[in-house]
Amino acid sequence: MSKVATLEIDGKRYEFPVVEGTENELGINIKSLRGESGVITLDPGYKNTGSCESGITFLDGEKGILRYRGYAIEDLAEKADFLEVAYLLIFGDLPSKEQLEKFYDDIKEQSTVDEEMKKILDGFPKAAHPMGVLSSLTSALVAFNPSCVDVSSEQDMYNAIVKILGKFPVLAAWTLRKKTSLPLNYGDDSLGYVENLHKMMFEKPGKKYEVNQSVIDALDKLLILHADHEQNCSTSTVRMVGSSHAGLFASISAGISALWGPLHGGANQAVIEMLEKIKEDGGDTKKFMAKAKDKDDPFRLMGFGHRVYKNFDPRAKIIKKSADEVLGQLGVEDPILDIAKGLEKEALEDPYFVDRKLYPNVDFYSGIIYRALGIPVEMFTVMFALGRLPGWIAQWREMRLNKEPIGRPRQIYTGHTHREFQPVDKR
Ligand code: SDX
Repeated sequence: MSKVATLEIDGKRYEFPVVEGTENELGINIKSLRGESGVITLDPGYKNTGSCESGITFLDGEKGILRYRGYAIEDLAEKADFLEVAYLLIFGDLPSKEQLEKFYDDIKEQSTVDEEMKKILDGFPKAAHPMGVLSSLTSALVAFNPSCVDVSSEQDMYNAIVKILGKFPVLAAWTLRKKTSLPLNYGDDSLGYVENLHKMMFEKPGKKYEVNQSVIDALDKLLILHADHEQNCSTSTVRMVGSSHAGLFASISAGISALWGPLHGGANQAVIEMLEKIKEDGGDTKKFMAKAKDKDDPFRLMGFGHRVYKNFDPRAKIIKKSADEVLGQLGVEDPILDIAKGLEKEALEDPYFVDRKLYPNVDFYSGIIYRALGIPVEMFTVMFALGRLPGWIAQWREMRLNKEPIGRPRQIYTGHTHREFQPVDKR
């Protein structure tokens, strides 16, 4: 028997159907609430509000579970590659060998960028933050691919999807090469998706690009771990912009801007800057723990805490283990890894963090690996965006296929009630 929720307002009772998901989550469907009662709900930050029903990613914050289309993140990180996971997230099942080959062929077909785009990149100062550059370039893709805006058929959507998957790594690599004064380049069709990304980012003029498999494997795993995370801030932004039918590229551009914030994807850069600060300050983690707990101090322990995970972020566990492996394989000694581990140990024993269920999240250790791979700290959130791209695409596609309505929340008005206009000489 389907469940029902009852609400009583001013002595009047209203009933609403309860939706039950495949993982037994319950949601009160309040679609008819305002129409029946004239009342709305209020939920700053949408901490208790579901925006949609989705079959893409499942999180259990209490148990620290993360699954993409039913597959455990631990399995995918260990056994799959990033392009396979991108296909899984977007189309719902792991691809056959032939499906994966065709998918990558279609992406390679679209992995050139209009030469005019270089003029837009040229307009940015070298000091520009890569996330701002990447968001602008992604939005500019619309001008050179107008057919990708009005995507009424699944084929139209597919064409837009392979275009952004082909062009985004080029734009991300060019964003880095602009900062490092290297000539803009392209990939090599004989290489894999992640190898190509790494080649475009790091190849030097006149030198043959050599694939370092442990570097590629580490990068591939990090991209998988960042690939989707249900209705987080940037994904909700992609869905919101996409719901106006602005098109995939404009929606992704908006998602990049949302991810940029230090409370969201920008935290991976903020973590390294925090760890560096602690190191320069003599490594006194206790002093920074005290600052993090001091309500009068705006300092937060970056890379700690999560809106959903009130247990270990499963991604943080995998990344922490991978950090030891990658630094060992590359023979890199990074003192800030020890500082990070010391902070984690202290926080997990400190009542302030334990009571608030604040654990390391995906951003706490990821920057240590990016740094060991030679990626500049300002590019860390771009790496997050490269990983999250298939998740944003999958969520946008699901929203469009489900023909979801334009997003338009309500509000409770708390401003002035009506007042008469006074001419300026009477004010
Ligand atoms: C990502 O949503 C996603 O899925 C995001 C993400 C994804 O894959 O898309 O997982 C990626 O964004 C990870 C989060 C990265 N951000 C950070 O590491 C920044 C530091 N963390 C915090 O700012 C915070 O934990 C948030 C923003 C992540 C979550 O904030 P919430 O859920 O709104 O929690 P809150 O701010 O209400 O905090 C609850 C309490 C408060 O104390 P009290 O008022 O109860 O006394 O915990 C405290 C907060 O002050 N707190 C922290 C803290 N995080 C929360 N105190 C010190 N340091 C912290 N990091």
